[in-house]
Amino acid sequence: MKDDAPTFALKFFLRLFEIIPSAAKRFSFLRDSNLPLDKNPKLKAHAMGVFVMTCEAATQLRKTGRVNVGANTSVQHLASVHFKAGVADVHFEVLKFALLETIKEAVPYMWSEELKEAWSESYDHLVVAIKNEM
Ligand code: HEM
Repeated sequence: MKDDAPTFALKFFLRLFEIIPSAAKRFSFLRDSNLPLDKNPKLKAHAMGVFVMTCEAATQLRKTGRVNVGANTSVQHLASVHFKAGVADVHFEVLKFALLETIKEAVPYMWSEELKEAWSESYDHLVVAIKNEM
């Protein structure tokens, strides 16, 4: 998956918009752009951010047993950006579903309950950290 991470990252965000089309309106750069969603570089960058931060959360959980958001951006900043943009619980929930579905499609031969739980746990810890600040 690492070789094609931007494509997978974008794919799981497009899945979110398929399920909740109005979620796209939360993004200022989508509201102000005529580019097709899959060609928008800023959307790709946000999708990669979520993907990478979930991976980092997994590493931190393994090393220290907890998730410490803040390597590149503070959790307070992240919470404030998402709060102001009107991101709600349902968006985080559906994004998780889309993330798991994308991974399952990307590496079907590796997919297992254990792998699903590992990604779910990392994502949940990261989101709890952001939502607590929101
Ligand atoms: C912005 C990460 C989930 C919507 C951002 C930024 C990061 C980020 C790093 C850039 C902050 C900045 O401007 O400095 C994450 C992570 C998520 C997550 C780690 C989950 C684990 C979501 C979800 C939505 C969302 C579910 C729902 C639609 C947005 C919006 C912005 C943003 C609207 C502001 C973009 C703009 O208009 O400039 N996010 N995000 N995020 N995120 Fe997320």
